[in-house]
Amino acid sequence: MPFIIAIDGPAASGKGTIARALADRFGFHHLDTGLLYRATGAKGGDAVAAARTLTAADLTREGLRSAEAGQAASRIAAIPEVRDALVAFQRHFAAQEPGAVLDGRDIGTVICPDAPVKLYVVASDAVRAARRAAELGADPDEMLAQLRERDLRDSQRAAAPLRPAEDAVVLDTSALSIEAAVAAAIAHVERVRGA
Ligand code: DC
Repeated sequence: MPFIIAIDGPAASGKGTIARALADRFGFHHLDTGLLYRATGAKGGDAVAAARTLTAADLTREGLRSAEAGQAASRIAAIPEVRDALVAFQRHFAAQEPGAVLDGRDIGTVICPDAPVKLYVVASDAVRAARRAAELGADPDEMLAQLRERDLRDSQRAAAPLRPAEDAVVLDTSALSIEAAVAAAIAHVERVRGA
């Protein structure tokens, strides 16, 4: 049985960095599921058709990391048929040996509800805005407004809203360095694997 690590949380909480570090540490595959929604939104036109015909090439397109692509992703991610079209790919990815780390918004609640490790990564609004502003070279206040708008939409939608699974472990990275956050995540995975 492959080992699955599900990581969810709001934008710029540090979940992507932690997911990559865990995949690296344990030799697991890693999927940034936000990229699927960003690529779907970036295709334009009918979002359901775009999600159904998504290919690997779509995921390497330029500009997917931008704030605009994030907003577009958040909007099309509220459409149930778009989400449905992306489920099989994500579950297939998660089934790879020896294991996989998936990060997103609904991994622990919908995509991989039986994952032995579920992390819900959070950070204060101010910290998240500062991180994203530094990453994209943008204004922190503008980033803060955008993050809040996106989190609100992602957590209030009816289809697979952003929320921690009941058995998720919450990791607050507000006051942690990247190294400390990664170390805490690794320690948790090792505890579960050793159990
Ligand atoms: O993780 P990200 O910021 O790249 O995600 C972009 C948007 O995609 C996010 O605002 C909501 C949506 N998303 C989602 O609905 N479910 C996921 N598993 C991942 C992302």
